[in-house]
Amino acid sequence: MDYEATLSEAREKIDACADATSLKDVERHYLGRKGVVAKHLASIGALPPEQRKAVGQGANRLKQAVQQLVEARAAALDEASLEAERSGEGFDPSLPAARLETGSLHPVTLVTRELEDLFVSMGYTVLDGPEVELDHYNFEALNIPADHPARDMYDTFFVRANGAASGWAEGSRLLMRTHTSPVQVRAMERLDPPFRVIAPGRCFRHETTDATHDHTFYQMEGMVVGRDISVGHLIGAMRTLLRGIFGRDLGVRLRPGYFPFVEPGFELDARCPFCEDGCRVCKQSTWIELLPCGLVHPNVLSAGGIDPEAWSGFAFGLGLSRLVMLRYGIDDVRHLFGSDLRFLEQF
Ligand code: DAH
Repeated sequence: MDYEATLSEAREKIDACADATSLKDVERHYLGRKGVVAKHLASIGALPPEQRKAVGQGANRLKQAVQQLVEARAAALDEASLEAERSGEGFDPSLPAARLETGSLHPVTLVTRELEDLFVSMGYTVLDGPEVELDHYNFEALNIPADHPARDMYDTFFVRANGAASGWAEGSRLLMRTHTSPVQVRAMERLDPPFRVIAPGRCFRHETTDATHDHTFYQMEGMVVGRDISVGHLIGAMRTLLRGIFGRDLGVRLRPGYFPFVEPGFELDARCPFCEDGCRVCKQSTWIELLPCGLVHPNVLSAGGIDPEAWSGFAFGLGLSRLVMLRYGIDDVRHLFGSDLRFLEQF
């Protein structure tokens, strides 16, 4: 190889490159896997031993020199194109930069976080539970045996475990949980009383969807277990909750409500936060239905391994999706999971 001649030919070609693409081509011609340098290196084996060293060194020097020339040319091309842009007609340095798209938190996330902060400040622990749940936790341990008519309220999607890989034992009766109440039982199994917990999360029901029903929605369960827990404790906690959400004291009232896992069970209503004498939100009644609640049924305490003679508790099931709608004046629950950016960008 004539080192000098090859190098000067390379220099000419590189200098002649007017853009990055042609520069890449020239680079590949010399330094590529089948390029000039590689060919020289490959030929070494066939040479008489006394020539090998010189050819090898020549090829390596050529490689380095071409590399440097390519880099220098690339930098010059870059600079030239920037310069052209700066001095060109269409360039206006005062134009705003391209907008960075930033996401925002979902309204359900916003309200969930706010409630978590509120309850944590009252000494509650935030728990999580599985969305695919055992029949045992969703129904059985909550005092809803297989033949109980209350199961009719909770039509859902039943799931088959996919063998051992699913992590569920063979023959597990699985379903998409219909409420966050199963976390009550999971909490009792894991924690020693006294304790206070909340468990926000996603629930599922086989529902025909409309403006106020969806097959997927959010709830937040609450449970307090201690000595001599009474309805008074329950009302006190709920008033604090309301103050946290709406920023002021709202009157509450209890109506009897039936849920197999509480005794007595209530529907708790709050004074409508939006009006004095009736509006669209409270359907002219001045009360809004806020949440079902009650004192934990002794059978449920027992199912969770807690002695109902020694301990008592209250529980509540806040409809989170509905609260989010109330909070932001959203009139159709389906907006929440419609993934429409025009809706989501408002939060
Ligand atoms: N889990 C019930 C439901 O989704 C709501 C509920 C009622 C939860 C009473 C409770 C409770 O904790 O005490 O229909």
